[in-house]
Amino acid sequence: MARYAYVNGRYVDHREASVHIEDRGYQLADGVYEVVGVRDGRLIDEGPHIDRLDRSLRELRIGWPVTRAALAFIMRELMRRNRLRDGLIYMQVTRGVARRDHAFPTVPVKPALVLTTKNSKRADADPGPGIAVKSQPDIRWERCDIKTVALLPNVLAKQAARESGAYEAWLIDADGCVTEGASTNAWIVTQDGELVTRQTDNGILAGITRHTLKSLCNALQLKFVERPFSLAEAKKAKEAFITSATSFVMPVVKIDGEAVGDGKVGLTARRLREEYVRFAAAGEAVT
Ligand code: PDD
Repeated sequence: MARYAYVNGRYVDHREASVHIEDRGYQLADGVYEVVGVRDGRLIDEGPHIDRLDRSLRELRIGWPVTRAALAFIMRELMRRNRLRDGLIYMQVTRGVARRDHAFPTVPVKPALVLTTKNSKRADADPGPGIAVKSQPDIRWERCDIKTVALLPNVLAKQAARESGAYEAWLIDADGCVTEGASTNAWIVTQDGELVTRQTDNGILAGITRHTLKSLCNALQLKFVERPFSLAEAKKAKEAFITSATSFVMPVVKIDGEAVGDGKVGLTARRLREEYVRFAAAGEAVT
């Protein structure tokens, strides 16, 4: 089956899809992106993801490449063409193509829009055995709230984690606190059963999954606190887990080789994943 990508107004064969070599995203990482999860043919939290895309664009003074309604249509059309049932939609907007100069182009350029999809196995309510994480220094810039394609520190941290046999990296700030994962938000459950995740500010990405889980915690009357937590506190926690559009809620059973709690998937993370999968099943069916 042919696989399509959307590139600046056209649905093209994924293998042939390309952008100009002077696209500012390619040369300067001058662009933003979003990842929307798809489960059982349903988009998860589409509205909040597109709202965050809008915010990222505004923060960097990049215009919308198409209308919001057109983007919603393109996402659905690409899902249909690629028969996407489970996986994700990736979308990227860059400032466009211009002669290389760090400053914004002085002549009007059209922002460039690219969308791809990725199939994966349907995410199960059962998290499996959980994952290991490895701590890495957080060496990123001070605007981690913007979802830009400038991801080299995240790339290097994730690679270091993978080389050590861990799935995700947890980024540690100058105070010894966990900011977030390389591509996920970080959570712990304290010995008192309190759910803790770092407050959102310029230091982390305000995850959409994080936000939805916060609402689910409230609905379930779980104790939820937003505050910094140290790596040492995380290692002594009852449970730990990560959240993102693609990993949903994934239990962390090991940090830097040390077991979290009894080293098995905890009850809270298991329950929250089940709730999240139920939430995902209630979304609008597209394919
Ligand atoms: N990553 N923090 C970072 C640094 C991220 O890159 C992501 C998402 C998250 C979680 O955000 P959300 O719940 O909205 O997915 C937190 C995506 C999935 C990616 O880069 O592939």
